[in-house]
Amino acid sequence: MKVKDVVSGMLTVVVVLAIPLTVSAEDLKKQMIDQGRYLIQVGGCNDCHTPGYPQQGGKVPEKDWLTGDVVGFKGPWGVTYPQNLRILFSEMTEDQWVAKAKSLETRPPMPWFNVRDMSEPDMRAMYQFVRSLGAKGNPAPDYVAPGMAVNTPYIEFYPKNLPGMQASK
Ligand code: HEC
Repeated sequence: MKVKDVVSGMLTVVVVLAIPLTVSAEDLKKQMIDQGRYLIQVGGCNDCHTPGYPQQGGKVPEKDWLTGDVVGFKGPWGVTYPQNLRILFSEMTEDQWVAKAKSLETRPPMPWFNVRDMSEPDMRAMYQFVRSLGAKGNPAPDYVAPGMAVNTPYIEFYPKNLPGMQASK
């Protein structure tokens, strides 16, 4: 085989490979967004971060997802509010989100350990989906320390009737 033939053969391979690759860049992004939507849904993020989601059996339009909630969770840790993830993500790059997710640790009842244990591709897919929705809504109320006055609605999270505790009335 002549050098010329080898080179032209290689060029053909490059051209054939390049066509599907450019097409799939867009497809890849769409796949990531679809995967992110799925993870947010089955990961339970809407359960707390989307107002009314459990009450409406998950029938909240996607455009209203993850805007945070003014209903707090009160427990021995004080009162915490599901943050507005639409605003949070719009203020971070994808890499900043990955770094935050890998070292995430919050107060209860946020299941931060589940986010921390996600694979990096899943963290990135989640980010792409939330960014595709854009920023929306207002920041959630500030955290309230134990014993301080609470001016919002809240749900109480205190364990009752644990072994060794006196029975609740
Ligand atoms: C049981 C309710 C609940 C669920 C389920 C939940 N969160 Fe949260 N999340 C919260 C609360 C409450 C806070 C605020 C915690 C605090 O103030 O320390 C929070 C905080 C966060 C924060 C930190 C925000 C910041 O500014 O630091 C991130 C990020 C987050 N949640 C992402 C998620 C993702 C992603 C999911 C789904 C995998 C999810 N949450 C599921 C209740 C929940």
